[in-house]
Amino acid sequence: MRICVLGSGYVGLVTGACLANMGNHVICTDKDAVKIGKLTAGDVPFYEPGLQEIIKFNLKNGRLSFTGDLKKAIELSDIIFVAVGTPSKKDGAAQIAHVVSAAKDIAVAIKKGYKIIVNKSTVPVGMGDIVTKILKKNGISRDKFSVVSNPEFLSEGTAVSDFMSPDRIVIGASDNRAFNTITELYRPLNAHIIFTDIKTAETIKYVSNSFLATKVSFINEIANICEQIGVDVTTVASAVGLDRRIGRKFLNAGVGYGGSCLPKDVLALIDVSQKAGYVPRLLKAVDEINGKQIDLFLEKIKKSFPKPSGKKIAVMGVSFKPGTDDTRSAPSVRLIKKLLSLGFSVQVFDPAVKNSPVRGAVVCKDIYSALKGCDAAAFVTEWPQFKQLNFELVKKTMKKPVIFDGRNIFDPKIMKESGFKYFGVGR
Ligand code: UDX
Repeated sequence: MRICVLGSGYVGLVTGACLANMGNHVICTDKDAVKIGKLTAGDVPFYEPGLQEIIKFNLKNGRLSFTGDLKKAIELSDIIFVAVGTPSKKDGAAQIAHVVSAAKDIAVAIKKGYKIIVNKSTVPVGMGDIVTKILKKNGISRDKFSVVSNPEFLSEGTAVSDFMSPDRIVIGASDNRAFNTITELYRPLNAHIIFTDIKTAETIKYVSNSFLATKVSFINEIANICEQIGVDVTTVASAVGLDRRIGRKFLNAGVGYGGSCLPKDVLALIDVSQKAGYVPRLLKAVDEINGKQIDLFLEKIKKSFPKPSGKKIAVMGVSFKPGTDDTRSAPSVRLIKKLLSLGFSVQVFDPAVKNSPVRGAVVCKDIYSALKGCDAAAFVTEWPQFKQLNFELVKKTMKKPVIFDGRNIFDPKIMKESGFKYFGVGR
């Protein structure tokens, strides 16, 4: 099929590259000319396993191309994917300006033929109707286009395999023609397809991410209780998670969830709900618990170091989770800012993040340089390489053997036996 993707960010690029890899002709667009230049040369502006390879392969075989010329890309395509950002506004509502602007661009560019506009961006419930209205207002007759909601469920770090082997594909459409075409597009994936109306599809996206966030905040609340009653939350989570009705995933206690989706989607669903006249108390608590989790972690550090001045801390892991260099809403960023404001000096290391997202923290090139001379180390991302630490060398490298484990990476018993003062979360 002939496809164009508006927005070559994380979601747009993965979608475009994977659709090209499945045999379609895909043009990815972006308003950022520098980005388009880099992508045309096969340079991916962020770290995502496997993505660079399929972009290069499909650039070479001619199925994938990049352009800043949105109008041309739209003209040449039958299906237009909208994958632009919808960041949170101050009140938690999702910003729809980029989606509105994309809809206007589409309205200008649609000249002949019938196009399907597929929304991949996470948008407030009802956005499909707004896009339809924009097109109609701009003189595009109803038989010239269909609007579809097809939310993405891509996890950073595994986005390519999530796209190619999805748990489900949700297609929200108001007509069979659009539904049949998008179903056909995804047919090679042999996935479970759910057909809904547009509003339901938009809601499914928010609910999926809010449920994942709820699981994390739930286990963090349990961790905080476990800490008070002398029980290890990791054992509790493992046993509870074996119940197939509950499941073990997203039951890892720690310093809270970050990233570009979970925090923003919980806030957006709260906003959608409040605007509809319902106060979502559970979702508000999910967000509140998440915000407090890093503060509780910081309290432990403050308790051990009541006089931070002259003390040096290593912050190990900066990305919001392993397998990515993304630091959006990363708990580490809040932690580093707070540590610096308290007077600690901070050395950071992350296998993928090479620039500190906070001014004042010193970025180190490897694990042991970051630990060198430190009074403590705070682990905030569970990168696999941290699990392989040589504890004897760590002890020799640090000034004091004190570990704050914000992701419960290490075994408290082994840490104690190895001579470390160890603080986990909920243990
Ligand atoms: C999420 C959704 O999983 C994905 O389906 C959606 O389309 C985009 O948002 P992502 O933001 O890549 O994906 O990260 P995810 O793997 O969901 O993790 C989010 C945060 O929760 C991370 O900060 C992670 O460290 C934290 N988390 C996750 C926990 O604290 N504990 C857990 O048990 C699981």
